[in-house]
Parts: sequence; C-alpha cells; structure tokens
Amino acid sequence: MSETTPRIPLIVDVDTGIDDSLALLYLLASPEAEILAITCTAGNVPARQVAINNLAWLELCGAGDIEVALGSEVPVLAPLMTTEETHGPQGIGYAELPAPTRSISERHATQVWIDAVRTAPGQVIGLVTGPLTNLALALRIEPELPRLLKRLVIMGGSFHHSGNTTPVSEWNIAVDPESAKMVFDAFSGLPDDRAPIVCALDVTERIEMRPEHLQRIAAAIGDEDAALSPDTPFGSRSQARNPVLRHLTDAVRFYFEFHVTHDQGWLAHMHDPFAAAVALHPEIVTLRPATVDVELGGTLSRGQTIADYAGLWGREPNAAVVVDTDPAAFFDHLIDRVSALAVRVEEAAGGGSH
Ligand code: RIB
Ligand code: CA
Repeated sequence: MSETTPRIPLIVDVDTGIDDSLALLYLLASPEAEILAITCTAGNVPARQVAINNLAWLELCGAGDIEVALGSEVPVLAPLMTTEETHGPQGIGYAELPAPTRSISERHATQVWIDAVRTAPGQVIGLVTGPLTNLALALRIEPELPRLLKRLVIMGGSFHHSGNTTPVSEWNIAVDPESAKMVFDAFSGLPDDRAPIVCALDVTERIEMRPEHLQRIAAAIGDEDAALSPDTPFGSRSQARNPVLRHLTDAVRFYFEFHVTHDQGWLAHMHDPFAAAVALHPEIVTLRPATVDVELGGTLSRGQTIADYAGLWGREPNAAVVVDTDPAAFFDHLIDRVSALAVRVEEAAGGGSH
C-alpha cells in the first residue's frame, strides 16, 4: 500500500471476544484503517470487560491513543446473555494480557457514533462485530445516522444456514433482536452501494482458522510455535517469543477447544476479522441486495434473520448480504497483515529476531 492510499475512518463496535480481538489486530495492522474509536457493548462478555480487553490489546500493540468507549451494558429489552463458555472468563480465551494503564473514555458509545458521523458526514465506515445495541440507541438520538455514515458493515445473522445460538439465530442478533430490527428498519431505502453489508454465518462459517494459519504467522516472523497442534493438552499455553503471536495463540486456542468440543473440528470460525476485512475492502465479497428483518415474537424463531431477495414483502431493500468470498485469499491477506504487526510490536519493544 502506498503512502497515497486514502485512509478509511472507522467506528468499530465490538463485544470482544476472541474473534473481535483478531479483528482489532487486523485493523491495527492495516495502514489504510483509521480507527476513530472503539465502542463496546455487552455480548460475549459484559461490556466493561469488553472495554478492558480492547484497552489491553491496544496498549500491547502500541495504539494506546485510540479511544475506547463504553456503551450499553444490557440489550434494549432482552435480558443480558453472555457466553464465557465460548470466549473464556474474560472473553479473550486463555490470553492473559498486561493490564491496561489507560481508562475507558468519558464519552458514551452512542455519543461517539453520533459525533463521528456529524463531524465527517458521509465519510465514516461503521463496523459492528457484536450485538447492535449501541447503534440502535444512537439511531434513536440521531435518526439521520444511516445517511451520515458512509457505510455500515455488520457481522451478524444467518439466512440459509443453521444458527449458532438457537437453531435459527446467530449470537449477535440473538443477544439483542430488538436492536437488530431497529437497525435494519432504519437503514431501509439507501442506494445499493450504501446498504449495510451483512456478513452472516452463511459465509463467516466458511472462514475456518486452522493451526497452520497461525503457524504461517510464526514462520513469517521467525518464531516457531506449534502450540495449536491438536495433540497438545487442553489449556496448553503458547511459548512463542513474539507477544502478539503468543497472546493471539492463547486466545484462539480456547476457541479451537470450544469448536472441537462442539463437534465442529479443530478449527475456529473467524467471523469478525472477516467482517473487518470487508469493511476495508468490500471488493473481496459478492453481495446480493435484500430486505432483511428480524423475528421478535416467535417462540422458536425469536432472533431469526430473514432475507427477502425477491421483493415478496413489497418493502425497500435495506441490506447487501454477503453471498460469496474466497476464504483462502482472506487468510493470505490476514496472515500477511498480522505478521507485519507482530514484527512491528516486537521491534518497538526492542526485541525480535530480525
Ligand atoms: O456469531 C458470531 C459472532 O458472535 C461473533 O461476532 C462473535 O464474536 C460473537 O460476537
Ligand atoms: Ca463479536
């Protein structure tokens, strides 16, 4: 990427989370990404823990000047649901990051969203890799937000694919279905190239991280580390020299153990870094216009996302659903970027084998 490549301003709303963590590392590794702020919502773990996780990753990577704001600690209506069994007690698997020295921002997440789009109308990309609570609350205050954002990218939903929280609902939507519906309703009627890009399980469950992906990072930075070999005991910790690789491997191992325990194989679905890559480079996906809505009242189907591709509801489209991508090309891109970040972080700390 040349110095003249335009930077892409982003608001990143997260429920960090193991894959949210890798999404952040990817964005920090991407010179074209200008993270204006990180806004935190309850989801994988409580919102305050989410904020601490982001402060810690930012400090580890020498990006301690990026604002981390706390948002809603509960969904707008549903009782709070978290999933420490999936992401670990603190939400970053087995990783034990140095405690951050910085504090959470004084601004509320909704104010961060609103200030960002009012300051730079039509320029900011919104990326949400957690429940949509903060965005829904911001929309209540600033109904013009859909037209003030350049584009919204959401990791969430499941269309012609099993859910991962109920048989028909995906976690980010299931945590706060009311907020998800508010967001989809508010983003109706935008031009096709401004419609929210929806990265649902249909595609993100094809983004299967395997041990060799992390071993490629280890090899690229001269740091041998086979900590994710399937025959290492559960709970093993990485001995990698490089801090980014070590903490990332410890985080991801927990996710591998969760997936294999749930009969999905020795792998980890990397939903959020994929959505982050789409936010920077939407050309890596194939999109299909749709009208998306969220079931709220179904006893069995609450939280289900439904896509009308044929105009059967007679409603304006409000989404551009990701229907295809090249997972291998995504991992090549991710590995290149995160490897470069790992080297930069280690060199900044005065270490490294280069
Ligand atoms: O369903 C997967 C999504 O839910 C990911 O964003 C994961 O981090 C959790 O938030
Ligand atoms: Ca997430």
